[in-house]
Amino acid sequence: MSTTFTLNGQKTTLDVTDDTPLLWGIRDEAGMTGTKFGCGIGLCGACTVLVNGRATRSCITPVSQVKDAEITTIEGLGENGPHPLQKAWVETQTPQCGYCQSGQIMQAAAMLKDFPDPTDEQINQVMSGNLCRCMAYVRIREAIKIAAAEMRSVNVQEDATNE
Ligand code: FES
Ligand code: FES
Repeated sequence: MSTTFTLNGQKTTLDVTDDTPLLWGIRDEAGMTGTKFGCGIGLCGACTVLVNGRATRSCITPVSQVKDAEITTIEGLGENGPHPLQKAWVETQTPQCGYCQSGQIMQAAAMLKDFPDPTDEQINQVMSGNLCRCMAYVRIREAIKIAAAEMRSVNVQEDATNE
């Protein structure tokens, strides 16, 4: 069986069974190893990717559910170089071991579409399902706020250019 979707802007066909978790399709078949395996049961968020812009746990998503979808992983998040979230993560030296961080960044990317200027409460609520064994939560929140501010300022500049 095969499944076709768009992965980081590239049409991608995987020759796997329909019940193959998207995580293994991305990592083992497509070779995008930035997305991590943590719990395998949808509880930790390490495997988070974007499916049609929404944060999705790839460990519990069979490839049959993402036929023809647009999938974005950490490797494809930035459009022209690093995404503002990735830059903010570096600026704040957010990761410790780093294992959870691609999932954290993808969840944050989805959140900023809904909350472009998030409060601490909104960040805590949306990010609460993404676990970090190294307890980097304070730096994660700081990095999200830095990235959100940069993205808002870019949007203001683009709006001014288009007027
Ligand atoms: S590995 Fe998918 S939620 Fe933990
Ligand atoms: S940085 Fe180590 S698990 Fe989050």
